[in-house]
Amino acid sequence: MYRYACVAVVLILGCGIPLFQTTDVSILDKDNKTCMYNNMMVNFTVLYNVNGTNSTANFVLPETVNTTGSKCGEKSSVMILHFGNGHSWSIHFIRNNDTYKSDNITFTYNLNDPKIFPNATETGYRTVENEYKMKGIPINHYYKCMSNDKLVKDGVTQTFWNVTSQAFIKNGELSQNVTVCDADIPSTTVPPTTNGTTPGTNATTAAPTTTPPPLPNPETHTYNVSNANNSVCLMATMGMRVSYNYHGKEFQINIEPNRTTAGGKCAESNVSSLTLNDSNGVVINFTFIKSDSKNFFLQEVSVQIKVDVSETFKQTNNTLRYWEASLGSSYMCNKMQAYPITANLSLTALDLRVQPFNLENDKYATAEDCRSDNPGIIVPIAVGVALGVLVLVVVVAYFIGRRTNRNNGYEQFS
Ligand SMILES: *[C@@H]1O[C@H](CO)[C@@H](O)[C@H](O)[C@H]1NC(C)=O
Ligand SMILES: *[C@@H]1O[C@H](CO)[C@@H](O)[C@H](O)[C@H]1NC(C)=O
Ligand SMILES: *[C@@H]1O[C@H](CO)[C@@H](O)[C@H](O)[C@H]1NC(C)=O
Ligand SMILES: *[C@@H]1O[C@H](CO)[C@@H](O)[C@H](O)[C@H]1NC(C)=O
Ligand SMILES: *[C@@H]1O[C@H](CO)[C@@H](O)[C@H](O)[C@H]1NC(C)=O
Ligand SMILES: *[C@@H]1O[C@H](CO)[C@@H](O)[C@H](O)[C@H]1NC(C)=O
Ligand SMILES: *[C@@H]1O[C@H](CO)[C@@H](O)[C@H](O)[C@H]1NC(C)=O
Ligand SMILES: *[C@@H]1O[C@H](CO)[C@@H](O)[C@H](O)[C@H]1NC(C)=O
Ligand SMILES: *[C@@H]1O[C@H](CO)[C@@H](O)[C@H](O)[C@H]1NC(C)=O
Ligand SMILES: *[C@@H]1O[C@H](CO)[C@@H](O)[C@H](O)[C@H]1NC(C)=O
Ligand SMILES: *[C@@H]1O[C@H](CO)[C@@H](O)[C@H](O)[C@H]1NC(C)=O
Ligand SMILES: *[C@@H]1O[C@H](CO)[C@@H](O)[C@H](O)[C@H]1NC(C)=O
Repeated sequence: MYRYACVAVVLILGCGIPLFQTTDVSILDKDNKTCMYNNMMVNFTVLYNVNGTNSTANFVLPETVNTTGSKCGEKSSVMILHFGNGHSWSIHFIRNNDTYKSDNITFTYNLNDPKIFPNATETGYRTVENEYKMKGIPINHYYKCMSNDKLVKDGVTQTFWNVTSQAFIKNGELSQNVTVCDADIPSTTVPPTTNGTTPGTNATTAAPTTTPPPLPNPETHTYNVSNANNSVCLMATMGMRVSYNYHGKEFQINIEPNRTTAGGKCAESNVSSLTLNDSNGVVINFTFIKSDSKNFFLQEVSVQIKVDVSETFKQTNNTLRYWEASLGSSYMCNKMQAYPITANLSLTALDLRVQPFNLENDKYATAEDCRSDNPGIIVPIAVGVALGVLVLVVVVAYFIGRRTNRNNGYEQFS
């Protein structure tokens, strides 16, 4: 099943010994063609015990490595780099139809290596396995990330940069098509509202410096939650956009129905919930409650956004009061409307209609429209009515005044 792999190609870096060196590795298949390629710089910071206190070891992945054990498969490939005195680093790639990604990076270090771990109290090997959540890269693309990417676990920090990588290479040739990581897209060319991408996820682009087009309106879709009896107990129709501020930068992302799954729980006592899980890395959880015997409203919104391979941005507010309507009816708001959730996150909904309770026959009940609770309309009406009354009063006063004058006149002149 696995093709055989072998040779490590070592890049000779001209004259002198650079402080940081590139580790350039090609794994060959049984026909001696490159089937997996990796060029990168890695440094490691490892805390280890010296007589009960933490000592820090700093070292880099050397340019000379041994790739014994690396394998290119149809669905799964692994690159293993042995270096120094018994240390090794490996990356696992999986293929899913027309994309591939790395899901796991394993680093093993040998505390018996006195050059790297002088005076170590403990001995033997330690292994750190990092789940590496990466978005799919199209087959036929190589992945490029010049920016730093960091994995931190169990006292070990691995920093990667200047990464060029491709797995599942066809015909032994590195592709010309590139998928760059978002961190590499210059921030000056990324407008405050980015093209539906989250930081840290991969943007597929041939020319990373082009300005992404403005985000189109989110696509409307009806999401259903069913109960144990298989009848729909919560329905929500909406186009949904998430806007958030992460480390001082504004991002926007549309929930795309075709990559989103809906789940939730219905009317468990007085609570119903809906969870939208967009595989692009966004999960939104809506919690509705019955306020009293008459109304329901949206009380809690919790949003989780995967902003990086190892980081999730979470925002929750459980003291909201949005989308309120009578029990037995649905709430509706067709206009595009922003709903602040926290200081750093808001949701924008379009073509909204929700009914979290008392759904019958998988259909929405009568809607209560958000226009009726919009004071923006009531105020002009009130002003208009007041003005009308005023005009009427003036007109009536005028005629009464004229009649009184005329009566006076008649009395004076008759
Ligand atoms: C660690 O402790 C032992 C015994 O107390 C001592 O002999 C040794 O020198 C210490 N090593 C270091 C690096 O402090
Ligand atoms: C590892 O590389 C990062 C990024 O270049 C750098 O900030 C850090 O100081 C380096 N650490 C060591 C131990 O060289
Ligand atoms: C690579 O490592 C393996 C086992 O760790 C060893 O058998 C082999 O000789 C090494 N190859 C080279 C070129 O050093
Ligand atoms: C992968 O390919 C198979 C067969 O070509 C197809 O049935 C399946 O739906 C594809 N899966 C995805 C996620 O595209
Ligand atoms: C290791 O221990 C030796 C002798 O105990 C000492 O001279 C040396 O400074 C220690 N090295 C480190 C890095 O702690
Ligand atoms: C040493 O490092 C480990 C791992 O980060 C940490 O859990 C521990 O508290 C540290 N110990 C000391 C004495 O700093
Ligand atoms: C990364 O690669 C670029 C070009 O290949 C090089 O100019 C730069 O010095 C490298 N960065 C580091 C930190 O080595
Ligand atoms: C680039 O990608 C396109 C489509 O994704 C593919 O048709 C083409 O063969 C690729 N080019 C190279 C050089 O890999
Ligand atoms: C939800 O239910 C409505 C009405 O039954 C139906 O039209 C719609 O297709 C359903 N949506 C999903 C995603 O199942
Ligand atoms: C589901 O079915 C059970 C038994 O048929 C019934 O008691 C229950 O009321 C039903 N629940 C709903 C929400 O329709
Ligand atoms: C999902 O929908 C978006 C927008 O309508 C479209 O651009 C994209 O191609 C669709 N993706 C799939 C896999 O259907
Ligand atoms: C939750 O929303 C309410 C109403 O919009 C707001 O007053 C409150 O500050 C928010 N709480 C948090 C934690 O953002």
